[in-house]
Parts: sequence; C-alpha cells; structure tokens
Amino acid sequence: MSTSRRQWLRQSSLALASLGFASDLLAETSTTIKSGNQKILLNSNENAYGPSPMARKAILDAYTNTNRYPDDYILLLKKKIASHWNIDTSNILLGAGSSEIIGLAALHVRGIDKEVLVGDPAYKVWNGQAEHLGLSMNRIPLNNNRVHDLQQMLSSINSKTGMVYICNPNNPTGTVNDITELRKFTEEASKKTLVFIDEAYTEYADLPSLADLAINNKNIIVAKTFSKVYGLAGARVGYAIAHPDMIDTLGGYQPWPDSAVSLISAVAAMASLDDTKFVAQCKAHASETKEICYAAFNDLKLNFIPSQTNFILFNIDSIQKDFVKEMESQNIYVQFRAHFGGKWCRVSMGTVEEMQTFCRVLKTIV
Ligand SMILES: Cc1ncc(COP(=O)(O)O)c(C=O)c1O
Repeated sequence: MSTSRRQWLRQSSLALASLGFASDLLAETSTTIKSGNQKILLNSNENAYGPSPMARKAILDAYTNTNRYPDDYILLLKKKIASHWNIDTSNILLGAGSSEIIGLAALHVRGIDKEVLVGDPAYKVWNGQAEHLGLSMNRIPLNNNRVHDLQQMLSSINSKTGMVYICNPNNPTGTVNDITELRKFTEEASKKTLVFIDEAYTEYADLPSLADLAINNKNIIVAKTFSKVYGLAGARVGYAIAHPDMIDTLGGYQPWPDSAVSLISAVAAMASLDDTKFVAQCKAHASETKEICYAAFNDLKLNFIPSQTNFILFNIDSIQKDFVKEMESQNIYVQFRAHFGGKWCRVSMGTVEEMQTFCRVLKTIV
C-alpha cells in the first residue's frame, strides 16, 4: 500500500470515527479469516475482494450529498455505462441489482397460461416472483456438455411462451454456451418471443456481450450487474440493455424509472467501472482459487464441472455426512444443490486464503 493511500486511509478513518462510522468500512477486504470464528461466505457468488479501492473512495467522498435525490448521479452513471458499451443512454434502465430487471421482465410477460422457458438447472432466485405473477416454468434440461440445449429450447417455444431466459455463463454450472450459437439462437428465438440474456458473469469468462443485438431488437433484453466482478452486491446496482421502446416499457413498471439506485450506489458503480486494475486482479484471483479447488477435488476424487465464473459446482454423492452442515460447523457457508439426479455443492470463490481453508476443511470432511 502506498504511503499516500495509508495517509488517506488514516485521515478518512479519523474523520469517519468522529462521525461514528465503523472503521472496518475501510478494511482492505470485506471478509477476512484472521479471527477463527469469522464466517467464510462462499454461498452467494459475491466478490470477496470488493468493493474496489476506487469505489470505496467514491462512497466516502459522496456520502455527504445523500440529503439530495440522486438524479444527477443517475444520469452520470447511465452516461458512463453507455460509453462503456458504446450505446445510448436510452438503451439503459437501472435497477436494484439485475434481480429487479429480471422481475420487471417477468411483470411485463405475466399472463394467464403464460410460461417462461428456462434451462435446468439455471439461476432460479427470481422464479418465485414469476410464479407469483402467474407464470409457470418450462424447464429444459442442459445438454450432455452441461450447457443450454439451444436447439431444444428453440423448438419448445410455443404460443404460451412469454419469455426465454438464458443465463450465460450459467449459474450454477459455471458453463458457457458458444457465443456464436447463442447469438444465432437469440436472433431466431426473438422472432417468436421475448429473449432475456442474463450476463451476470460474462466478465469472468471474457465473453462478449449481446448488447449490440438487444439495442436494435425490441424482443431482446440483456441484463448486467455490479454485484459480481465489480464487488458491489450490497450496493444493489444492475441494469437492462435494450431497445429504447423496451426500456420505456420496463421503466413503466418502476415507480420512478432508474431511481432504485441510490446516490452512494451510483458513485460506487461509476468508480468500479473505472477501476480496471481491480477487475483484472479479481479475475486473476478467481482463476487462481479455482485451480486450488480443482487440485483438491482431483486429490479427493470428487467430480466437478470446470467453471468460467467465480464459483464451481462439484459432486458430493460420495460424502455420507450432511456436507453443508459440516462446513457450517467450521464457519464456512456453501450451497447444497440437487442436480442431475445427484448431490452437488456450489462453492463461490473467496479470497485465496479463504479457499485454502475451504480445501483443508473439505479434506477433513471427506
Ligand atoms: C445469474 C444471476 N443473475 C442475476 C443475479 C442477481 O444479481 P443482482 O440482483 O445482485 O444483480 C445473480 C446473483 O447471484 C445471478 O447469479
């Protein structure tokens, strides 16, 4: 850490302490494993290294303005996102995470006897809301390569289909559909129904976005988030990229379009986009920690799906004990998943130190 940064941190700590702010707001990483009973959170695919140093500074610099509504900051954020993707601000709608964007799409396509075509398994958290809106899920199993079966999905579109949801890279498998095939699929499927492309993890996989398709086609929505590689899950910033007409339609379901994003979250997101060094470091850490885990899985003869994201799905059929509980007893939090007729665990990549601890505990349990 440079002297000037240390100095800045010390000054900011003193200023914040006098205001009653918690000193760990300035901690280098959001989770540490220094003390034995601290939780190691590997269950939500967050970025253990975030927020980025530039985002932390932006938050501290901006908090005194939170007596004002965020309009100006929101416009600046939209302009920044627009220039990042070389699109127009009319192609962007902000939401409280990409979850809100998926929810708006579900609201838009709701209707009696309507269904959403989704992969199985795929990201599911929003399914409860969609079902509450009357939508049913038509789940199409992933193919043998554990990626979306695009052929099968295309031929499954029928008059009931309100939307096709594709998560690429996919959660929970961490796998990626070939982008050329996905482009072709999206163009074809959008002739018949709304296509929603969830790009929450594209940065980890170095995948190009389908944003260019979405801005010219009223039947395609691309969703992005600041919750993953940008390390801002708690700030709740996501956005839709779509044709201006679709942006207007989705924004119509929000009480105040774009303004679920707070002023603090907006400045954090803008700074995160600028902090390319931090993003590169996080991607490198994710690759390093995945290799640590793969080595442990191979050692223990546990099957896993090679991942292009910041999480890995590995098979725990051979583990007799309640694996998640065993992990929890050691303050490590992972997700149990029942997929492909077996027992699996989805583990998110934490810091290098956290993943070494995870592997050590994994070995003792196995
Ligand atoms: C594929 C995918 N989409 C969307 C989300 C929601 O992210 P957020 O609402 O934090 O942007 C997640 C979160 O885990 C996810 O895995």
